Amino acid sequence: MVAGAVGVINGKRCKRPSADARAEKSSLMSTALEIIGASEMTDKSAIDYFTEVGSVEAVNARTGTDTSPRLAEIMTSLVKHLHAFTKEVEITQDEWNAAIDFFTRTGHMCDEYRQEFILLSDVVGLSMLVDAINSRRPEGATENTVMGPFHLEGAPEYEMGANITLQGKGETCTFAGSVRDTQGNAIDGAKIDVWSDSEDGYYDVQQPDIQPLYNNRGVFRTGADGIYHFKGQKPVSYPIPDDGPVGQLLGHLGRHPNRPAHMHYIVSAPGFQTIVTHTFVDDDQYLTSDAVFGVKESLISTFEENPAGDTKFHAPFDFVLTAEKTA
Ligand code: BEZ
Ligand code: FE
Repeated sequence: MVAGAVGVINGKRCKRPSADARAEKSSLMSTALEIIGASEMTDKSAIDYFTEVGSVEAVNARTGTDTSPRLAEIMTSLVKHLHAFTKEVEITQDEWNAAIDFFTRTGHMCDEYRQEFILLSDVVGLSMLVDAINSRRPEGATENTVMGPFHLEGAPEYEMGANITLQGKGETCTFAGSVRDTQGNAIDGAKIDVWSDSEDGYYDVQQPDIQPLYNNRGVFRTGADGIYHFKGQKPVSYPIPDDGPVGQLLGHLGRHPNRPAHMHYIVSAPGFQTIVTHTFVDDDQYLTSDAVFGVKESLISTFEENPAGDTKFHAPFDFVLTAEKTA
């Protein structure tokens, strides 16, 4: 921190920033103004006093010189876009009060088991957008999709081929395939963590009095051939938790809360990027209207009837892992 002289502003003693500090701040402001677009800068006094026209500059000019550059970049842009949005739709006071009430109720809905803000991010497509930006992969590598709130650490690790359904009367299914790198080599020791809903469309954690913990969950490890297979239930479509403000929002927007049937996977191996993904049941009615936008064409798996096998369906899917990013 550069030392500055002491002066008096509005009757209060305050430290006047040194020439260096002022120059630094002015350069930060110029950068901020470049980011927000100089065209919005119509009146220099708007930097100090808030006006409708100069609202963005008034707020962003307050950013301190010690602020982390990344935080400054994010907040400057966020303020720019939030103000532009508010001006574009001319939010009324009643609408803003309703928005505050919505966010307050969203916060109150959150606890250890329920994260209504993540659901909000999911239904407006933000979760999928953040994931898309952060998991760009080469052609042919398995794509990510949304994680969802129902993963549990500590699921039992089973021998390859085991049945993850501890209790249930759904349609039985064998899930099988391989884990390979982008050159087609089998990956030895890949960890495959899976979880799905029951025949009623609920995860075990949503029905602690009905389903045993770890029902339809398990962890498997590949051998040198990279092959995996396990038995479970053919997943069914289900609504995301819609008894809170996010469900009400979907209702107001004329949107249903359903997700197409899917099996969740986290596939990881040393030296490779971890895949957080699903395989989707190919004939599901919600494939094109997933409430959280999680469907990607490459993740749709055929659920074939399997008359000769010991489960009713067979769902093949091969995972292709990308090498870890090097700095
Ligand atoms: C899920 O697939 O488990 C899920 C994803 C997003 C929101 C709710 C549930
Ligand atoms: Fe799910």
